[in-house]
Amino acid sequence: MSKDDIFTKIPELNYTETAQNIDPNEFEKLIHGRRSVRVYIEEKISDEIINKCIDAALLAPSSSNLQPWEFYRVKSPEKKKEIAKYCLNQPAARTASELIICVARRDTWKKHAKQMLELFESDKEQETPSSVISYYSKLVYLANTIGPCGIVGFFKKILIAFKRLSGVMPGGNSSVSDMRVWAHKSTALACENLMLAFRAYGYDSCPMEGFDESKVNKFLNLPKGAEATMIISAGKRADNGVYGQRVRFPKEQFYFEI
Ligand SMILES: Cc1cc2nc3c(=O)[nH]c(=O)nc-3n(C[C@H](O)[C@H](O)[C@H](O)COP(=O)(O)O)c2cc1C
Repeated sequence: MSKDDIFTKIPELNYTETAQNIDPNEFEKLIHGRRSVRVYIEEKISDEIINKCIDAALLAPSSSNLQPWEFYRVKSPEKKKEIAKYCLNQPAARTASELIICVARRDTWKKHAKQMLELFESDKEQETPSSVISYYSKLVYLANTIGPCGIVGFFKKILIAFKRLSGVMPGGNSSVSDMRVWAHKSTALACENLMLAFRAYGYDSCPMEGFDESKVNKFLNLPKGAEATMIISAGKRADNGVYGQRVRFPKEQFYFEI
């Protein structure tokens, strides 16, 4: 199975999934209704709703479906106080009934690729196309291996530059910073799912990057390949919870038809 086949061949599958109808008005209400809320009232969110929101986060798309994320719900009041302190005691953290630390893991891709292959192997209902097996057993490694001190990534970068002279070649990840971007991208998508889910269940949220990363990473005892993408606070919106009208720059500044 060549690299080109993996990308271009439509696999023969015995599977269909019909798209459900969604009420577009409800969708718009959800998107427009999500605001960053900085002040919450003292009202708890049930465990059931929190679990549904976390489930929604975990349904976000991720690069190669390798799910490079983790979510830590801070439950104890003492720990919440500590995390709020690391979030500079901003009201969005201080008044929140929930604090969820969303972590990007650039170090779990190998384990998850193996897990994916094991899942395929144990699937009795459907045979996994060989292109998919090749993808998780070979291409994912080619794309993400950077080697000790980035040595593999360095040579990979040079090779890719040469290959690009004569064709189309995706860059993959060649350095720790590439891997960081890779993991944070997918984790941020999960964060948006989480925030939209809170809104859908009648609660609100605030994404926060205003926190002491090193203290939070240490608090969670995270390994070197993991770091918090953002902390999401959540709770019941107070009357003064939204600080003002939504501000967005003109669409023409950001949207282009080419
Ligand atoms: C990555 C990221 C980090 C943010 N960090 C903070 C933060 O630390 N504190 C805060 O009050 N808001 C924070 N925000 C919220 C933004 O200020 C907010 O999304 C923006 O002002 C737009 O408002 P809206 O979310 O209500 O549309 C953050 C948003 C994002 C996406």
